[in-house]
Amino acid sequence: MTTNTTGALIAPSRTAPAALILTADASLLDELLALAAAADVAPTTAHEPLAALASWTRAPVVLLGADLAEEVARIAPEKRPHVYVVAHQRAPDDLFRTALRIGAEQVVELGGSSGWLVELLADLTEQRAARGRVIGVIGGSGGAGATTFACALGQGAAKHGDAAVIDCDPQGPGLDRMLGLERTEGFRWDALCQTTGRLSARALRDALPHAGSLGVLSWYVGSGAQTLQAFAVREAISAARRGHETVVVDLPRTPDKLVDEVAARCDRLLIVTVGSVLGVSAAVRMRARFAGHPDVGLVLRGEGIDAADVESAVRLRVVAQMRDQPRLAEALDLGLGPLRSRRGPLARAVATVLGLPVEELL
Ligand SMILES: Nc1ncnc2c1ncn2[C@@H]1O[C@H](COP(=O)(O)OP(=O)(O)OP(=O)(O)O)[C@@H](O)[C@H]1O
Ligand SMILES: [Mg+2]
Repeated sequence: MTTNTTGALIAPSRTAPAALILTADASLLDELLALAAAADVAPTTAHEPLAALASWTRAPVVLLGADLAEEVARIAPEKRPHVYVVAHQRAPDDLFRTALRIGAEQVVELGGSSGWLVELLADLTEQRAARGRVIGVIGGSGGAGATTFACALGQGAAKHGDAAVIDCDPQGPGLDRMLGLERTEGFRWDALCQTTGRLSARALRDALPHAGSLGVLSWYVGSGAQTLQAFAVREAISAARRGHETVVVDLPRTPDKLVDEVAARCDRLLIVTVGSVLGVSAAVRMRARFAGHPDVGLVLRGEGIDAADVESAVRLRVVAQMRDQPRLAEALDLGLGPLRSRRGPLARAVATVLGLPVEELL
């Protein structure tokens, strides 16, 4: 991963639409390209106002260098929103008048505004960028199999595109360990907590330890007691969503405002529930905790119980039901992750949740 002078993580995106950077000033261009990369935006660049006219109206945002502002004002291109005139440092007074003639929203002095510009670029382009789905997995009761199912979902989703699993449980076994990646180098929470500013989607994707197309954000074992940091979790989920088709989040059951917030950010929430009286009554409590969430479903573990009975007791849909996966411990010991064979009950449940034919999982 590269770091620029502003400390931002640099990476161009594969998916974000272009912003237009129009300047003939090489050092301004360098600075703006770094900011665009930090925002995960792949810009179109031009140093000739006339040549840039085609992109002028189409780009979601235009960053116009102060050096070309007067020339652009003379050409008088069509007025459009989201044009920002950017100067290195203190903008001269007449630049504001020129910006007004162009219909620019603002004159931006780069010195103190780089973080703000990164946010702006990311926000103005993000709505059109690909947005991965985020699936949260939580156990209805302790040891229900949530962490195992989260890893299996990630493994299955990675067969169809970039996927990531995010470990939000500092007391858990470690998702990297469960996927055989505990010795693989890469970004873990401790490194993420040290970064500031907006995290680039591609930078995160490239930096995570990987098993094929599956990236894993987990805890660094050996750095003492660790807790989730609000800003790091928000940045991680936002960047992971922008950089992956599917993101699976393993959520701890402990009551915690931050966990509730992360759950609320998930498009879908799955409560892994053991098919027993105690398991079902724990799931009822969990349903109450996430009553405001628009898409909550159950993954039922156990075969001796009728899914319809569980549905009416918990008042949530059973999205998938599975019996225990044979030889799960062996697969985990070998560092292969829980989803080892497409014939097992775990693979069928994963395929159902992801809406994929089971043959496509492995
Ligand atoms: N689908 C499954 N088939 C068989 N065994 C399973 C399955 N899922 C989980 N287990 C076993 O159950 C135990 C608990 O699994 P796991 O850690 O995934 O549960 P959890 O809900 O995340 O637990 P915790 O409450 O500690 O977070 C482990 O020993 C695991 O191997
Ligand atoms: Mg767990």
